[in-house]
Amino acid sequence: MKIGILTGGGDCPGLNAVIRAIVRKGIFHYQDEFVGYLEGWRGVMENMTRRLDLEAVKGILPQGGTILRTSRTNPSKREGGLDTCLKNLKQNGVEALIVLGGDDTQSVSKALFDRGFKLVAVPKTIDNDLSGTDLCFGFDTAVSIATEAIDRVHTTAEAHNRVIVVEVMGRDSGWIAIYSGVAGGADVILIPEKPFDIDEVAETLKRRHDRGRYFSIVVIAEGAKLATHTVSDERRKPDEFGHVRLGGIGTLLAAEIEKRTGFETRAVVLGHTQRGGSPTAFDRMLATRYGVAAIDLVHQEKFGCMVSLKGNDIRSVPISDAIARTRYVSQELIDVAASLNEYQPEGVLKS
Ligand code: F6P
Repeated sequence: MKIGILTGGGDCPGLNAVIRAIVRKGIFHYQDEFVGYLEGWRGVMENMTRRLDLEAVKGILPQGGTILRTSRTNPSKREGGLDTCLKNLKQNGVEALIVLGGDDTQSVSKALFDRGFKLVAVPKTIDNDLSGTDLCFGFDTAVSIATEAIDRVHTTAEAHNRVIVVEVMGRDSGWIAIYSGVAGGADVILIPEKPFDIDEVAETLKRRHDRGRYFSIVVIAEGAKLATHTVSDERRKPDEFGHVRLGGIGTLLAAEIEKRTGFETRAVVLGHTQRGGSPTAFDRMLATRYGVAAIDLVHQEKFGCMVSLKGNDIRSVPISDAIARTRYVSQELIDVAASLNEYQPEGVLKS
C-alpha cells in the first residue's frame, strides 16, 4: 500500500520516533511504500514530498524536531485548499494518509476523511490537552525540561532573596505548569483553568515571606488569565487556525509582584526550549507505540480514527471525538497542588 505521512502544527520531541515506527513496521510487516509530505498540510497542498524509506528513518529515533518539517498551514482556509489536497494525493497514488498533529491539524484530517479520503491520526501536542487520549508524546520531555529549569532557578532565587516567575507553555490548559510546578516545588502555580488575581498572588507571597522564607518560585502557564483584567493581544497577528502568539504574561506578572510586594522579582520564559531537543525514554516508547498502532489501524481499515492511550493501553477513538473539546487539567491534580498550602485563595495553586 502507498501511504503518506505528515507532521503539522507545533513540533514536539518524539515526532521522528513515530515516523520511524510507522515506516519500519509498514515496510517489514506490510510491504508498504511511503511518501513523506513536507511542512504539514502545506506539503500536501503544494505537493512537496520526500523519500521515506528505511534509509531515511535511520538514526532518527532520538532526534527532536521532525525530518518532515512542519507548519500551521490550514487548507480549509485557502480557496479550493481541500480539493487541491485530494487532487495531489491522488496524483501521487497515495491510498491513505497518517497525520501527526494536534486539534488544528486533525480538524483538516476530519474534513478530508468526511470527503472520503482514508486517513488515520496520531495525537501530538506539547500542551497535552487533546481529548480522546490520556497522554501525548513530547509532554514528558517538556515537563522534564521545565522541572530542571525550575530546580535551577530555585538555587539562584534563594541566593539572591528573589521571587522568580517561570513561564511555561500551555495555551488553553496548564498540564506542563501543574506537572513541572508540583515536581519542582513551586510556591505558586497559575494555570488557564483558574483565572487569577494579582493581588491574591502578591498576598500569598507576602505571607510566605512573613513566615521567614526569603525567596519564592511562581510557575505560570503562558495562557493563564487574569480574573480582573485582560492583557491586550492587539499587536499579535493570529495564525491560520485563529491563534494569537502567546508569551509575556510571566514578565507582566513579575513586574506586578515586585510593585505590590517590594520583593525583587525576575521572569524566565522557557518558551521553545520545552519543545526542542531529544525526547525522554518515556516519550520515545509512547511515540513508538503510537506509530506501530497507527500503521496497524491503516491495515485494519479503521479510517477516521486516532490512536490513543487509555491508562497504559493503546486504543483508538474517532478523530471527531479527539477534536471536539480541550482536555483540561483534572480537579484531582488541582487539588494535589492546592492541598500543599495552608491558605488557598481561589485561582492560586500553591504547592
Ligand atoms: O501548540 C502548542 C504550543 O507549543 C503552545 O503551547 C504555544 O503557545 C504555541 O504552540 C507556540 O507556537 P509557535 O511555535 O508557532 O510559536
